[in-house]
Amino acid sequence: MCGIVGYVGKDNAKDIVIDGLKKLEYRGYDSAGIAIIRNGKLEVKKHVGGIANLENLIGEDPMTSNIAIGHTRWATHGVPSDDNAHPHTSQDGKIAIVHNGIIENYVELKHQLEEKHGVIFRTETDSEVIAQLIGVIYKEKKDLLQSVFDAVDKMRGTYAIVAMSQDEPDRMVAVRKDAPLIVGLGKENNFVASDIPALLKYVKEIYLIENNETVLVKADEVKIFNEDRKEIKREVFHVTWDVDAAEKEGYEHFMLKEIYEQPKGLSETLNRRLTKDGKIRLEGISLTKEDIDNINKIYIVACGTAYHAGLVGKYIIEKLAKIPVEVDVASEFRYRDPLVDEKTLFIAISQSGETLDTLAALREAKKRGARVLSVVNVVGSSVARESDDVFYTWAGPEIAVASTKAYTTQLMCMYMLALYMGLETGTLTREYYDNFIKDLQEVPGKLKTFFRNVSQIEELSKSLYNREQVFFIGRGLDSAVSYEGSLKLKEISYINSFAIAAGELKHGTIALMEPGTLVIALACQDFLYEKMVSNIQEIKARGAYVLAIAKEGNDAIAKQSDTMIYIPECRDEIVPLISVVPLQLFAYYVARERGCNIDKPKNLAKSVTVE
Ligand code: AGP
Repeated sequence: MCGIVGYVGKDNAKDIVIDGLKKLEYRGYDSAGIAIIRNGKLEVKKHVGGIANLENLIGEDPMTSNIAIGHTRWATHGVPSDDNAHPHTSQDGKIAIVHNGIIENYVELKHQLEEKHGVIFRTETDSEVIAQLIGVIYKEKKDLLQSVFDAVDKMRGTYAIVAMSQDEPDRMVAVRKDAPLIVGLGKENNFVASDIPALLKYVKEIYLIENNETVLVKADEVKIFNEDRKEIKREVFHVTWDVDAAEKEGYEHFMLKEIYEQPKGLSETLNRRLTKDGKIRLEGISLTKEDIDNINKIYIVACGTAYHAGLVGKYIIEKLAKIPVEVDVASEFRYRDPLVDEKTLFIAISQSGETLDTLAALREAKKRGARVLSVVNVVGSSVARESDDVFYTWAGPEIAVASTKAYTTQLMCMYMLALYMGLETGTLTREYYDNFIKDLQEVPGKLKTFFRNVSQIEELSKSLYNREQVFFIGRGLDSAVSYEGSLKLKEISYINSFAIAAGELKHGTIALMEPGTLVIALACQDFLYEKMVSNIQEIKARGAYVLAIAKEGNDAIAKQSDTMIYIPECRDEIVPLISVVPLQLFAYYVARERGCNIDKPKNLAKSVTVE
């Protein structure tokens, strides 16, 4: 979603801001823009399309200035266009703002500004209202900080906003409500941004800005104010990862690099939390036997890929810890009347920790008395900060829009939680637990072995890339993984793909089977494998072309299918950690074959901070 970068300091601001915006491209956007103050005058350049278009527009102009704010826009109100791109300016052209989020009462504010102040709007966006409102207030207050305070009081919605005024060229004022915002602390240099990768090249010390806080940022000073406009202190957050972690390191795409990073991420997430005697130490989570006994239900809520991790979580927690689990997509959960109370453990799963729907669902669950545990990748993100307990996936930064290593590390957290609860409450014997942990520890090695056969998947994609539709089928845990495989394929290759529990096919979807229809059948659950054979036969009888995924040595499935991908042998319960990888690779190579923009698929954003 929209990316924000701001800079004030001794260096040329334009270069730093454009560089930062490039690091935020992964969030997804459709236009880009920048505002500077040069020789006492505010100047704005903005262009629809990629940052390269903005750079072409700027051309050789150095845009020399010590202050700049920049933005990549992901359209919500108004089409992607030069006019609708940010920064937006006030009527007199003296104030510029960039905004991530939605101003819900913008129509009302717009009418007031038009009628009372004669403002003429130039764009279709909700965001322009912010610039115009601050501009009108500034005429009276003549102080940017005070004007932003007053403007924010009149706005409803979600926002991270950065404003600057040509009459105060030494400062930016930023404010946050439900959209990510950080401040980077340099030497005679300070920064604001939506996300850490934008600033990593320049700073490692960060202030994480909380909701309803306003920040005054000058080259040599940063002040944070709370909702009551009182200055407050904030601890510095030290970023531990380096620039390389957010670079491609020779891989053609971030997605491919992140697929290959899964053994490392899984090993970090698991092994760093195992004590010498093999027990799971849930750092940051105080879940005693008493707490677990007190829970009568678990609700797992998330979006997209994280929701698919929740589907596996349900299966595993119910099987190992014997606690009933419901799984829901966050955008549905929050508008129902969910049966959640103080006996519910609410688990939010989110890579970014900034997904607005997930955050809103978490708040709803808290309001109803649930204890909130989150499984999050981005340290210090909103979901993490608002949870009672946080279980971090140590996947490292995930840049590609299509989530891969975040998913498998989320799964690992699900296994660990289930095993922990099962051992604490006695639903598992120590022997079963130890064997399970041992099997989980072997997964990274098995994945590395599997990677030796990647060329087979690359070859397969060359013959299958031009299909118009693809079906994914499976049973039990294989069914949960099919949903993820299907999402991966559709989001990056734009092929119309559809996942369905194999047993459900005959209740309608089988009508779509035609000679040559590509069906990817996951048959990795030993105890369900005969059932899968029947399902494969049913679709083969209608002429479908079946690509099956099964464990090594499963020749019976091979006989039924047109082509096979084998995964290493492992216990049924942990199959998803492995079987999703060929699906990720298949999606990747098909998308590459089709010439798609793999890391930044059209219409999608990495961090979905609007409803
Ligand atoms: C995954 O490939 C997608 N890009 C998307 O479904 C994503 O998982 C979803 O938007 C949730 O994001 P989160 O994990 O950051 O909350």
